[in-house]
Amino acid sequence: MHPDPTLDELLGRRPHVSMHAVSGLMLDDVPLRAVADALGTPVWVTGADTLRARYRELAGAFREAALAVSVHYAVKANDHLAVLRVLQAEGAGADVVSGGELRRALAAGISPGSIVFSGVGKSDDELRLAIGVEVGQINVESAEEMLRLSALSVAVGRVSRIALRVNPDIDAGSHDKISTGRRGDKFGIDHRDIPMLYAEAGRLPGLRPVGLAVHIGSQIAAAAPFRHAFARIAGLVGALREAGEHVETVDCGGGLGVCYRDEGSLSPRALAGAMRATLGDIGVRLAIEPGRWLVAPAGVLLASVLLVKRQQRAPPFIVLDAAMNDLLRPSLYGSWHGIVPLSPAAALRPVAPAHVVGPVCETGDGFARDRMLPTLAAGDRVAILDTGAYGSVMSSTYNARPLAAQALVDRGRWATIRARPPVEALWRDETVPDWLA
Ligand code: LLP
Repeated sequence: MHPDPTLDELLGRRPHVSMHAVSGLMLDDVPLRAVADALGTPVWVTGADTLRARYRELAGAFREAALAVSVHYAVKANDHLAVLRVLQAEGAGADVVSGGELRRALAAGISPGSIVFSGVGKSDDELRLAIGVEVGQINVESAEEMLRLSALSVAVGRVSRIALRVNPDIDAGSHDKISTGRRGDKFGIDHRDIPMLYAEAGRLPGLRPVGLAVHIGSQIAAAAPFRHAFARIAGLVGALREAGEHVETVDCGGGLGVCYRDEGSLSPRALAGAMRATLGDIGVRLAIEPGRWLVAPAGVLLASVLLVKRQQRAPPFIVLDAAMNDLLRPSLYGSWHGIVPLSPAAALRPVAPAHVVGPVCETGDGFARDRMLPTLAAGDRVAILDTGAYGSVMSSTYNARPLAAQALVDRGRWATIRARPPVEALWRDETVPDWLA
């Protein structure tokens, strides 16, 4: 393994994060110290301008490739209303995977027609909601779901536009837990069964099959898996049309990876190239469902050092007030996130290896092992980088730790976008049966 990137390398690759000699670490030109002073830690901070810039870069890559692509932001990556609002204003629709996400997207002002409803298990209530508000497309993942959706649509006299999600049996080469397009994975319909099911969908009342969808996984760093998957879809579109079916759209899913450490990442331009080469000339409308790429770099998690537990024969444990209940990714996937002090003075201290952990009572509760970091002391504050995607949304209140506050920085201003709930809120909805009184 290469040595960890230095502070300069981390900041060099992230123009939206900078170290100011007086104000310290800034996100989108707002001093993060100001947010931490006002709201305390742990606190998530999202940069609205970084979100906008990333959306524009993505949309620009498709324009350059002369591809008309509708972007459905994968709400699961960060479902905060303010995030949805910023992306909606840039032109994004939404990809949702639950009734809750659908309601959130609508609450943020995203029009139902630009919403795609994905997911391997949708309840009748969720499907009824989607039919009722007339979402643009429902991505169906099984024969069972298809039959259920047909019946539910007929019951309310509507015709639902559906795409069949294909399991193309392609390994995205990503982390095992977030690869979704291999034969044994629970997602999508085996590509060999698509012709039969597509024809059946066309015969069922209440359904209008409009195309195919594919999503092979997340944090994908190479173009080849995308190309292979899209080529397989193009082949299926050809076969369906030969059989007389109508296919107007292909939803290419999400999955575009970002650079957390120093791993290679794929540019939107490379993704656009893969789409152009495989699906560009077959006369379908294209869609994508990106989550991580849009929002991961736009967010940081601020935390304070509670104490430094020194050891005679090993690196110290830097114990933060943030933990796995806030940011689960390192514990769950062993993922690497940059850690940067907020204070300019701390950033200049000599560097030594340290383990960065949280206070939760699990050995797996940590953010970094043997990380080269400036010497930190109790009270110092740090930013954990690239936590805008799959950060706050995966938080829990494990160990009775209230959810962290959230703030949005935007062109010199900042605002609280989620207050830290009082600890009593943790048991507000609990009841103790009378007989225990
Ligand atoms: N579309 C579908 C159907 C998906 O399942 C997902 C992500 C996306 C789009 C968006 O993928 P993205 O562009 O964000 O890669 N918690 C994990 C990631 C799980 C991704 C789940 N599905 C993590 O923290 O790495």
